[in-house]
Amino acid sequence: MEISQALHDRLELLSAKYQAIGQDLISYLDGLLYADVTTYWDYIELDTLLSLQKPKTKYPDEVVFIVYHQITELYFKLALQEFKALGELQRPSKSSFIDRVTRINRYFEALIKSFSIMVDGMDRDEFLKFRMSLLPASGFQSAQYREIEIYSTDFVNLVARDARSSFDVESSIEEMYQQIYWKYGATDLDSGNKTLTLTQFEEKYDKDLIALGEYCKSRNLWQVYLKLSPSEQSDAEVKKVLRMNDLNVNVYWPLAHYKSAVRYLARKDVDVAATGGTNWQQYLPPKFQKRIFYSGLWNEVEIDQWGKGWVEDQIKEILKGV
Ligand code: HEM
Repeated sequence: MEISQALHDRLELLSAKYQAIGQDLISYLDGLLYADVTTYWDYIELDTLLSLQKPKTKYPDEVVFIVYHQITELYFKLALQEFKALGELQRPSKSSFIDRVTRINRYFEALIKSFSIMVDGMDRDEFLKFRMSLLPASGFQSAQYREIEIYSTDFVNLVARDARSSFDVESSIEEMYQQIYWKYGATDLDSGNKTLTLTQFEEKYDKDLIALGEYCKSRNLWQVYLKLSPSEQSDAEVKKVLRMNDLNVNVYWPLAHYKSAVRYLARKDVDVAATGGTNWQQYLPPKFQKRIFYSGLWNEVEIDQWGKGWVEDQIKEILKGV
């Protein structure tokens, strides 16, 4: 066999690579000789993936419910990958900032659009039955959703609305965590105590989420934005992607999600209790919690009207024009 220049160059490069780590190139070439070629099904772990849906009942629509939650968590994972990469940038460039925030927006837009799979894609009677077998589990316990919030904004913006003014960006993460908004969405309607959904979540995740809060003090997306130069901070495209992000995570996704709760749990007389046992009608609509990540980019009216229908439409129009 003739050794072409291209092959010779690759061998040189490989030899240098393995020499640098004290390894023998010939042994690694032997490895190549014996290794199987990769198949699609092995590479994406198809068999494992398809074995991860374990319904608790015989109702086929439970599989729709499980798969859609899994799809959502995978998109959350992709979004978090971008938040992490942004947080690590010492000197973010305008283009990397826009590109990565746009990726996050794209993932959320896919989720917002596809939420109809939940809202319209399951039989209501089947849903009301199989949901009883998963008590007290709730999407409320999605840690990745909470991580996205912590990676987005200064921790103080996640404090419950009524307690927010007692803290500022310098306050202790641990103290603010005690007043984090989601604890107020998980109070048992009858006893006023924390729901089991919440206590289980706290046991598993509190320590990690507080540590993440510390880590994100200087790395959350708002802080990354503040690392841009003043002219980049006021750039129309930069502001647009960040505002879109705030709307996607804090208004459009919660509204799409809320629609599914209304479809399955709302009744004319009295609402069906949520699996987490919360007063979801007073908790889920974005206008009540008023979670806003980047309040510096919104005016007073927009903040005042947060999550209310006509403003959303107006904002959509505004963003189109930017
Ligand atoms: C038919 C579909 C769904 C219904 C009826 C529903 C219902 C609810 C309800 C009632 C709550 C309030 C907490 C509770 O009492 O459990 C909640 C919270 C939550 N759910 Fe869902 N959900 C659905 C689908 C999903 C999906 C697909 C996800 C994706 C992971 C999800 C993620 C969440 C999150 C993150 C929260 C907490 C929201 C917050 O704290 O503002 N849910 N859900």
